[in-house]
Amino acid sequence: MDYLQIEGPNRLSGKIKISGAKNAALPLIASTILSKSESKISNLPNVKDVKTLLKLLSNLGAKYSFEDGSAKIDTSSTSNTKAVYDIVRTMRASVLVLGPLLARFGHCEVSLPGGCAIGQRPIDLHLKALSLMGASIEIKNGYVIANAKKGLRGTRIIFDKVTVTGTENIVMAAALAKGKTTIVNGAKEPEVVQLCEVLKEAGVEIEGIGSDVLEIYGTDGELLDIKEIKVIPDRIEAGTYLCAGAITNSKITLQNVNTSHMDAIITKLQEMGFSFDIKKDEITINPTNSINPVKITTKEYPGFPTDMQAQFMALSLMANGVSIIEERLFENRFMHVSELLRFGAKISLNANIATITGPTKLCGADVMATDLRASSALVLAGLAAKGVTNVHRIYHLDRGYESLEKKLSALGAKIQRLKE
Ligand code: UD1
Repeated sequence: MDYLQIEGPNRLSGKIKISGAKNAALPLIASTILSKSESKISNLPNVKDVKTLLKLLSNLGAKYSFEDGSAKIDTSSTSNTKAVYDIVRTMRASVLVLGPLLARFGHCEVSLPGGCAIGQRPIDLHLKALSLMGASIEIKNGYVIANAKKGLRGTRIIFDKVTVTGTENIVMAAALAKGKTTIVNGAKEPEVVQLCEVLKEAGVEIEGIGSDVLEIYGTDGELLDIKEIKVIPDRIEAGTYLCAGAITNSKITLQNVNTSHMDAIITKLQEMGFSFDIKKDEITINPTNSINPVKITTKEYPGFPTDMQAQFMALSLMANGVSIIEERLFENRFMHVSELLRFGAKISLNANIATITGPTKLCGADVMATDLRASSALVLAGLAAKGVTNVHRIYHLDRGYESLEKKLSALGAKIQRLKE
């Protein structure tokens, strides 16, 4: 198993390129199930989750190639509609094949993803919405067995909670349904917006893109023509590197970013005292004389992303005063706290609220990654800590960060990947 060794602290400098967004890539790959023609997706991040979903499609009978950040996917030979446990259990987002498989074939079996480190993460809202669209849903032997032999029909769906992959699944199912589907309280994340735009371009009429009410006019079973897609830049990867610049109080530049997707992240960094130079698809963070403490509450987009919560907690260890971070989306997303304590952090937890007292002189430590974003928070703390930090179990990081140690090395960090 690999681990990362970091020697800190040192200032960073220079420029790196941000990859395509993992969370946009996954629904886009799943959407190719709806296409009659070969689809080409570029700016794909070379990360484990993307490879896992491609493997799942291949297991269903699709053909694909993936090199230099571009995949060609042809799902015309899909013969199997069972998404097996062995693949789904390694990545929850595999559930994104549920909507498109059911819409295209009128039947599918998708392994239930099960719980994960940050919370229970049920898919009840996906299933309830598909039932409203006329599917019969049964859970048997750990699988969701869905049938809609006469096809799905459009209806009005009001999500009890805002769910990103839930909205994406239903948008994809609605694309081939008969009639109009209205989604109320849908997710507005840029990744959902890109999926809707791609489906629209491929022949589905969709109104309300970017709002929380989506109206999708299904094609009644007619397959789409998804040709070329370029995945949007990863706002969470970009936010993580901005935090790397901030925690080491350095000037670094990120290229291939879309800062309009990053308002909440940039605003919080500005409140903490950092300034930015923003040009077209480039952002530079500048050092500050003093880092201010911060108050953060995670929320759905355009609010502060839960996927940046752990990284900001690491950064707030350097702030002059008491920061408060409230996690509203997931019930157990503070697993990184006990690992940050190993660096000497002062953090107290009360239910879903963390109180962080800074500034702390962090000392390098051996720490264990628990989930994708928590792992990056540990790397950030390692960049600021004095001495050697070893971050273990980095397979979590490899799920969503492309070449993390190479990008950080290019910025001057002393970081290397080693074998346990
Ligand atoms: C997506 C992102 C993940 C991000 C999360 C929240 C992808 C591949 N992953 O995950 O990085 O952290 O959004 O921004 O895009 N819920 C239910 N029932 C459901 C569905 C969700 O109760 O059927 C709850 C969840 O437990 C959670 C909340 O709704 O508390 C939001 O979850 P959701 O938006 O669905 O997260 P994901 O789509 O899994």
